[in-house]
Amino acid sequence: TELSTRLHHIIDEALLDASEIEDWGRSADYIPPLAQVDPRQAAVSVCLPDGTMVNAGESRKAFSIQSISKVFSLALAMGRYGDLLWQIVGREPSGTHFASLAALEANEGRPRNPFENAGAIATTGALLKGYEPRETLSELVRFVRDMAGDESILIDAEVARLETESGFRNTAIANFLRHNGILTEDPDRVLGTYFHQCAIEMTTRQLARAGATLAQLPCANITLGADRIQRINALMLTCGLYNESGDFAFEVGLPAKSGVGGGLLISVPYQASIAIWTPGLNAKGNPMIAIYLAKRIADEMGWSIF
Ligand code: DON
Repeated sequence: TELSTRLHHIIDEALLDASEIEDWGRSADYIPPLAQVDPRQAAVSVCLPDGTMVNAGESRKAFSIQSISKVFSLALAMGRYGDLLWQIVGREPSGTHFASLAALEANEGRPRNPFENAGAIATTGALLKGYEPRETLSELVRFVRDMAGDESILIDAEVARLETESGFRNTAIANFLRHNGILTEDPDRVLGTYFHQCAIEMTTRQLARAGATLAQLPCANITLGADRIQRINALMLTCGLYNESGDFAFEVGLPAKSGVGGGLLISVPYQASIAIWTPGLNAKGNPMIAIYLAKRIADEMGWSIF
């Protein structure tokens, strides 16, 4: 189609210009297997309303989705608990680093939003209530596979294991949440589940396809209902890139969620679902070149929601 040809051209140009940029950021250094990923790689996939895919770069290469999984766990928890979920987690942007303990303590121990680590750990804790970790994880993986329409999506258990070994900061967060009664389950079980959900591996092709549900595209494999989708997108817009969410809304104007594996999932309501992967991160822990590419695509397609 004309649209996909134009899009392809815009993405190719943006990738070419990105290749001239000297600094592509640094791969996440605190999760050992991620630290070894070459930061100078890029993949872009866009899913259009009729299911047409536009792909460029390493779009068949699976990467660790990390915090992007927080969108999926949030969607499930909202479905299970409805408004009760907001008793344990807020809906305000934090303006602080995603693993800040100071922000948590300053807010009387209640996580500000479901995307900072504390809020995501609380959300996973809620999903775990009454279940075994492997049951919660298979429910999550099932959900992601259904959204993506792809049975091959898996968890990299080695990434989860190594993050468990080095995840002292998240351990502190989980224990603090348990102390404050935000978590009622054993913190180590919650963390084990959380690290495994973060270790789900996907390609940009799979992620863009899964995102069709969030962008409410007609081609979506599953639908969640407008209420839930609107709220998830509102949280992505205001909190999806942590203390860079304001900048991203200002520059790009679209709901998005980043992960320290270098992934960025963006929804263009009713028009497109975009997944970008560039493993080099900026100082705020967000994928540096993916943000550049997102801006280029959104600007040139006129996709800002504003
Ligand atoms: O909890 C962590 O630190 C990681 N498993 C996920 C953090 C993450 O992806 C933050 N995103 N930019």
